[in-house]
Amino acid sequence: MKTKVICFANNKGGSGKTTTCASLAYAFGERGKKVLMIDGDMQLNLTLSYFNEDEALEFAKSDRNLYNLVKNGGNVKDCIVKTRYENVDLIPSSTLMSSIEFELFTKWQRESIMRKTLSPIVEEGIYDYVLIDAPPTLGCWVMNLLVASDYIALPVEASPWGLFGLANMFEFIESVREINPDLSLLGVIVTKVDGRKNYFKQTLETLRSTEGIRVFDQVIHTDSSVEWAQDDSKPVGGYKKSSRSAGEYAALADEILNKI
Ligand SMILES: Nc1ncnc2c1ncn2[C@@H]1O[C@H](COP(=O)(O)OP(=O)(O)O)[C@@H](O)[C@H]1O
Ligand SMILES: [Mg+2]
Repeated sequence: MKTKVICFANNKGGSGKTTTCASLAYAFGERGKKVLMIDGDMQLNLTLSYFNEDEALEFAKSDRNLYNLVKNGGNVKDCIVKTRYENVDLIPSSTLMSSIEFELFTKWQRESIMRKTLSPIVEEGIYDYVLIDAPPTLGCWVMNLLVASDYIALPVEASPWGLFGLANMFEFIESVREINPDLSLLGVIVTKVDGRKNYFKQTLETLRSTEGIRVFDQVIHTDSSVEWAQDDSKPVGGYKKSSRSAGEYAALADEILNKI
């Protein structure tokens, strides 16, 4: 099977992109898939989902991070680090990522740098899935991440403002398709559902009645295990398999694998 690249993006912060990317990487790995995660955000949250702060800052200081790779070129394989889970690897981020837009500005074919950077591993087919965690912006950098992807997955928070700005995201996807016409919308993942409140039903109804949008059946409820897992530098499935969110992310992984 050809390596499939999935980018988790939404210009709204706090929508569950990083949590979903980290949790699904773990669930795919558990299902015997080889996964490479890519931390595309200067907040290092995906890196911190698998490594402690000291380790994350060490990657940022060394050459083994995405910023260095994009800025200076080099072999993508040299930037891959192993996590404690056999099937799950990572390209860490760097705090210097804050100036990535500036770095891209002077480059030739600046929207396609990531696609070219990743092509050696995608073509070699070492990984079943590459999962990219995008920052909450809609600039040239996120354009790069989406030009390098086969699919975009859209985590949306089940909150009154969760849907605000989604139209901008869809317009952005259309502009990415001018360069990468093969980019498909994998689907919307509804996150942080609070079962005690009824609000999420409205979010789901609005999304499900929107033409051209696929919404995954499996939603993710708010679960304090997610935060405890992040505090312990582990994805929730690795932290507490019996937790509600670990089960939900495992079921979502199956739903996604059935679709792709
Ligand atoms: N299912 C969940 N239950 C509880 N807290 C969650 C859940 N998903 C995400 N969070 C919390 O919400 C915040 C935003 O999630 P995050 O994945 O970082 O979103 P994004 O990457 O889109 O900014 C984080 O503090 C995270 O711990
Ligand atoms: Mg994030």
